[in-house]
Amino acid sequence: MIKIEHLKKVYPNVTPLKDVNAVINDGDVIAIIGPSGTGKSTLMRCINQLEKPTAGHVWIDDEEITDPKCDLNKIRQKMGMVFQSFNLFGHLTVIENIMLAPMDLLHKSKQEAYDKGMELLRTVGLAEKALNYPDELSGGQKQRIAIARTLAMDPEIIFFDEPTSALDPTMVGEVQAVIRDLAKTGKTLMIVTHEMGFARAISNRVFYMDEGGIYEDGTPGQIFDDPQRENTRRFVRKLKVLELNIENRDYDFLGMVSEIEQYCHKNQVNYRTAQHIQLAFEETIQNLLLPVLNAPKIHTVVEYSAADESTVMTLHYNGDPYDVTRQGDKLSLAVLNSAVSEMSWNEVEDKELRNKLEMRIKA
Ligand SMILES: Nc1ncnc2c1ncn2[C@@H]1O[C@H](COP(=O)(O)OP(=O)(O)O)[C@@H](O)[C@H]1O
Ligand SMILES: [Mg+2]
Repeated sequence: MIKIEHLKKVYPNVTPLKDVNAVINDGDVIAIIGPSGTGKSTLMRCINQLEKPTAGHVWIDDEEITDPKCDLNKIRQKMGMVFQSFNLFGHLTVIENIMLAPMDLLHKSKQEAYDKGMELLRTVGLAEKALNYPDELSGGQKQRIAIARTLAMDPEIIFFDEPTSALDPTMVGEVQAVIRDLAKTGKTLMIVTHEMGFARAISNRVFYMDEGGIYEDGTPGQIFDDPQRENTRRFVRKLKVLELNIENRDYDFLGMVSEIEQYCHKNQVNYRTAQHIQLAFEETIQNLLLPVLNAPKIHTVVEYSAADESTVMTLHYNGDPYDVTRQGDKLSLAVLNSAVSEMSWNEVEDKELRNKLEMRIKA
């Protein structure tokens, strides 16, 4: 079991971990996801003591590894780490790479280290490469060797930091397959990955990291299908967000049209959808809302999901409750129909912007 309490890591210019708390059970397979720079690597490195946390406590089983009196060498042997770059020794053969640490650190005999090494090479499908040098292998093969080398120390916990992100896409599958097999053996695994399908298939728990900590923790079903918090939702649905604020009648209409254009271009929204977004924005603002609002304040959020290419536009506006879908100008609503597949209005609890209009944009 790993227990993390109020873990904090401060670097001179940035504090990636503000307050991390978690209990990780034996056999948990945890996928760590989140935008880059949110401290995923730092968290792993603080748990396995490659980095010294600024504050907080980490226990592995009953031992507090953040206690200065703790025997770190003993603790480190319980933990293995697989990096993005494989870090194999180029001057040693594959089997020598694997035998090295067990002989040096666990004082295994050469024969023992060899037998175990060959057994591990068979499990990662590379026994025939035992006498090759790393340079003679593909990236996917090197990473499988790196995994076998980590396993040779028989760690209880294995950390993977983006194990497939340096690989050619054709080799991602073979490495993922090895990790997937490993996940079934009951070892505790923590895996930072950007491959959402893999994260989902392999883990029993997902940590979404953001804002200096574990922002949301849940089963893959919860995190990917029913995230409870805003940033998680935006991340897993690969939402590209554009916000446009209108504070008065003299807002810069052409400027906003051009912002929408750039947003669509940058996120590769297809041409027809982009046209629909423009039309929905213009028609709603110019013809449905501005004519009826006295001192207009309209906050528009466009969310395009790169995961399924769907777009939702939400407008929050002030004034008395005004359901445009029923009270709005009929001709404008008919025009909107060509760009919008669904439209719904709600009154929401907000001091100023009490009206919320949600539109699903046609693709
Ligand atoms: N050794 C370091 N010294 C200074 N800043 C660092 C160091 N390592 C990471 N950082 C910074 O800490 C933040 C979190 O980094 P990291 O844990 O690598 O994020 P992630 O793995 O989620 O992309 C980043 O802003 C990064 O630049
Ligand atoms: Mg990282």
